Formats: sequence, structure tokens, C-alpha cells
Amino acid sequence: MNKSSVLDKIKPGIRAISAYSLEEYDYDIKINQNENPNDVPRELKQEVLDFALTRSWSRYPPFIPAELFEGLAGYTGWKTDGILVGNGSNELIQAIMTVFLKPGDKLVIPAPTFTLYRLLGNISGADVIEVPLKSDYTYDCDALEEKFLSVGDIVVICSPNNPTGALYPIERLENILKKTSCPVIVDEAYFEFSRVTATKFLDSYDNLIILRTFSKAFSLAGLRIGYALMNPELAREVEKAKLPYNIDFFSITAGAKLLENLNMLEKSTKEIIAERDPMIQTMNSIDGVTAYPSKANFILFETPYDPKSVFSGLLEDGILVRDVSSYPMLGKALRATVSTPQDNRRFIQSLERLMKGGIDAK
Ligand SMILES: Cc1ncc(COP(=O)(O)O)c(C=O)c1O
Repeated sequence: MNKSSVLDKIKPGIRAISAYSLEEYDYDIKINQNENPNDVPRELKQEVLDFALTRSWSRYPPFIPAELFEGLAGYTGWKTDGILVGNGSNELIQAIMTVFLKPGDKLVIPAPTFTLYRLLGNISGADVIEVPLKSDYTYDCDALEEKFLSVGDIVVICSPNNPTGALYPIERLENILKKTSCPVIVDEAYFEFSRVTATKFLDSYDNLIILRTFSKAFSLAGLRIGYALMNPELAREVEKAKLPYNIDFFSITAGAKLLENLNMLEKSTKEIIAERDPMIQTMNSIDGVTAYPSKANFILFETPYDPKSVFSGLLEDGILVRDVSSYPMLGKALRATVSTPQDNRRFIQSLERLMKGGIDAK
């Protein structure tokens, strides 16, 4: 008998897509993943470690991490029973898609945007409809509204958008929210750098879900904490698709302590915001470079050269950026995280060197 491969039993939709992946490189300056360059203060780490030494590791973490929920309610101004916490906001995006999307449903997203929406939509069997940004990489709100309201079952709006940095004009959001009961997901992973949020609509619209993360301004990418804000009744439903005990006691403790000590992070967030616009200006003053406005902690930029050569040239100087040229519309683009003033200067110097003849072929 001819035995077929177990791989043939996998859903065709999964076989057809590529996994989310990121290559590893050696570097001095890491500005490829929009992380905060400043680690959490040592005193805070010590407090978490002290707690970890007294707590049994053989026991499950709390089923409901009350101190984290309370901290988040204080920080966001939203009700604890309308908050869900995930192993990174990635887990919550997955839970939301699992709850809403049936095969053939239409997931509307901007293009380019954070790649995981498309991937998770595909895994759920949805048809992913991409609405291109304008040529300056700002949102085409008319096109997005029109597409979602005419054919969409769910929309994800990333604001500020990764990897382009532009905000969705928050006042336009109500145009969508009031005309449909379909879920509207607003990913505010970079909220602390834009300070623009859709939370004011949560009370009036039960189809709004806002996603946030501890991985960016909060310096906790290594501990994986994200959260979602929504109507409490909806939260009980989305919770069904989330695994129990999805965050460990280390992360719960660190997240709660961090929320009690947000002043510790204020300086680094302010510094990144203060660096951002001058950095964009300096990049634009380099012959050949176009850097786009950003309300996040990263900058999208283009050069006339092959982005792979720019990426390698920067890496030769120890600087690791993200080549985003495989994203829709972004054939010439790379993305750099705004880092410490010192790192930013080194990045700019390296970019200048490359643009002044450090790269051979156009
Ligand atoms: C827009 C956006 N959403 C979500 C995430 C993932 O966040 P988390 O680390 O909380 O899973 C990222 C990470 O780069 C992001 O850019």
C-alpha cells in the first residue's frame, strides 16, 4: 500500500502560507524590532526576582491576575471586566480572529501593515482584503471605510501603523463604528509614542476592540504581555479562545510592578519622542534618503539603492535595521527603531557613509 505523507493531511490554507520569521544577525545596535532600547530598571527586576524566590514554582499562576487587571484599569481608565491579558498582544489577535472568523469571511486590513493580521486571518480560513495606503503611506480612510462597510466582516486598523508610522485619524473611526456591528480592531501597540487613542469610543461602541502591548514603550518584550480593551460582555466571549494560565507569574508580577512605577519609564519614552522628529529631519537631509513622518518609535525610510545592500551596509557598521521591502508598496523601504541619542547618531553616520558612495550599484 502506498502510504501518503502526514503533511498531506494539513489544511491546504496552512500549507500555502509562509511562517512568521525573523533572521538572526550579529550586531552592536539593534533597531530592527521597535523595542525600547532602555531595559527596565534593576530595582524593579530585583523586586520581581525576590518575589519569585518566595513563591512556589510548582503551582500555577493565579487564574485571574487581579493586580495586573487593576493596574491596567488605572492606566487605561477602562473597566477591569472589559480587559483581557495575553501572552503578547499577538495571542489576543489570534483569540479575536478565532472567535470571529469563519472560513470565507472577509478580513479587511490596510496594506502595508503588521504582517501577523494577514497570517492569522489566513490560518482562520478568511479571505484577506488589503486596502492600500496612499502613496505617502498615510491611511486612505475613504477606501478603507468603503471596503469594510461594503464587504468586510472584521477590520484591523493599526494606529500608528507598523511599518509606516502614520496614525489613523481617530475622529474618522466613529464613521465606521456607528455604521456596523462588525468588530473593529484598533491595534495601539505604539500608543505611548503617539498618545492618540480610541478609548473614548469604548463606552458607546460594543464592537470596538483596542489592543495594546508591554513590548514597546514598557520595555517588556522579553516577558510577553499584551492586553485588549473591549465591552465586558464581548470580553467574556473572546476569553473562551484564550488559553488558561496564558501568562506566567513572572510576567504578571513584572507587569503589575511596572504599572505601579510608570514614572520610571517616562524619561525613556519622552527621550524617544524627542529624538524622533529631529532624526527624521536629519535623515531627510541626507542626499538620496526619504524618511517618512512617524508617530511611533520607528522610522520608515527609502533610498534609491537596493534595500538589501543598504541593510548589509548598515550591518557592516554593526547596525541592525529591518528590511521591509517585501511588504506591499514598500519595494525600496527599510525601518529603523528610534533608539538612544547615541545609537541614533551612529545609525545616521552609517547611513550618511552609505549614501556618499558606500554602496556600489543603484
Ligand atoms: C502593530 C503591532 N501589534 C502587535 C505587535 C506584537 O506585540 P506583542 O509583543 O505584544 O505580541 C507588534 C510587534 O511588533 C506590532 O508592531
